[in-house]
Amino acid sequence: MKKYMASEFAALKNKKDLTILAIESSCDETAISVVKNGREVLSNVVSSQIEIHRRFGGVVPEIASRNHLLAISNLYEEAIEEAKIKPEELDAIAVTYGAGLMGALLVGVNFAKGLSYALKKPLIAVNHVHGHIASNYISHPNLEPPFICLMVSGGHTAILKITDYNKFKMLGSTVDDAAGEAFDKVARVLGLPYPGGPEIDKLALSGRNVVKFTVSNSLHNTLNFSFSGIKTAVINYVHKFEQKGEAFSKENVARSFEESVTDELVEKSIRAMKETKQKKIVIAGGVGANSMLQNKIDKACKENGFEAYYPKLKYCTDNAAMIGSAAYYYIRKGMGLAELDLTAKPNIDL
Ligand code: KG4
Ligand code: ZN
Repeated sequence: MKKYMASEFAALKNKKDLTILAIESSCDETAISVVKNGREVLSNVVSSQIEIHRRFGGVVPEIASRNHLLAISNLYEEAIEEAKIKPEELDAIAVTYGAGLMGALLVGVNFAKGLSYALKKPLIAVNHVHGHIASNYISHPNLEPPFICLMVSGGHTAILKITDYNKFKMLGSTVDDAAGEAFDKVARVLGLPYPGGPEIDKLALSGRNVVKFTVSNSLHNTLNFSFSGIKTAVINYVHKFEQKGEAFSKENVARSFEESVTDELVEKSIRAMKETKQKKIVIAGGVGANSMLQNKIDKACKENGFEAYYPKLKYCTDNAAMIGSAAYYYIRKGMGLAELDLTAKPNIDL
C-alpha cells in the first residue's frame, strides 16, 4: 500500500526549514505548539486540567478525555494565531500517540489525523518519552547528544543513554512505581492536593530528615529503581500515627521521603555517567522540576566534573513544544510517518 503522504514526507528530510504543529493530550494537559527547526518555539499553548482533577485526588481518565475534546479546537486556533503562521505553511502535523491514557491520547490522535487529512500534511507519530528528552533541546539551543538522560515523570523512571537524536539505550528503569507516582501517592496520604510532587517539594523545605525511609537495596548494584517499598513505608508510618490518634510532622515525613528518593535517583545517575564515561546528564520529566533533586544533581556534577541540563520549568511537565522538537528529529532521519489508521498506544517502550 502506498504510504499516505509518503512522497511529501520524503521531500521534508532535506528541506531547509521545517515548521511543525504538534499536539499532546496523553494525560491531563491539552497542548498544541508550533516549533521551527526543532528548537524555536513559535507558540506553546497549554490547557491544564489540574484544577478539574484535584477534587478527585488524581486524574480521572474519562473526565480527562472529555476536557481534551472541549479544549482542543480553541487551542489549535490559539497556537496558529500566536505563531503568526497560516496552516498551509506548516510542514507536518505531529502528535503523541503513546504512552498515556487511551481515551486522552485518542483525542489528540484523531484531531491530528483530521488536520493532516484536511491540510494534506504528513502525520508524525511521536513517543511521549522522546518528547520529554527533546524538552531539553528547546531549553538549551546548543545541547546535542551524546548524553545520559535521567527520565523522571509520573509514568516513567529510567536512565537512558542517548547516543544520537533517535538512538536511545535503556540502562535501567523502575521495576515498579515511577518516581512521580510515589510522590503523588505519598502526598495523597499526607492530605496534600494533586499533583503531589510540587506540594512535597514545598513542604519538605521546612522539614527535617529524621525518619528513616530507606529504598529497597535489592537493586543496589544495578541501574534499576524500586519506589513501591518506600511508598508503602510512608503510608504505614502515617497510618500508625492516625490509628493512635497521635500527631506527626508532615514536614519531616515529606523531607525524609524526598531525601531518600532523590539520593537514589542521583546515586544511580552518577553511577551511569561513570560506567558509560559520559560528561553530560540531561534531566527530563515532571519530577525533574524538584528542587532537592536539582540541588543534589548539581552538587554531584560539580564534584565529578559533569555538566547538568534541566528543561525550563514550562517544558518540564507535559507540553506540545517538546513533541514538535522530537518530531523534527524523526523527520530529519526519515522516521515517524504515520498512516491515517494511526491509533493510540497506552503502553509503548522506548
Ligand atoms: O512529565 P509529567 O508532567 O507527566 C508524565 O508524563 O507523567 O510528570 C508529572 C509528575 C507528577 O507525578 C508530579 O507530581 C511530578 O511530575 N512533579 C514533581 C514536581 N513537579 C511535578 N515531583 C516532584 N517535585 C516537583 N517539583
Ligand atoms: Zn509526560
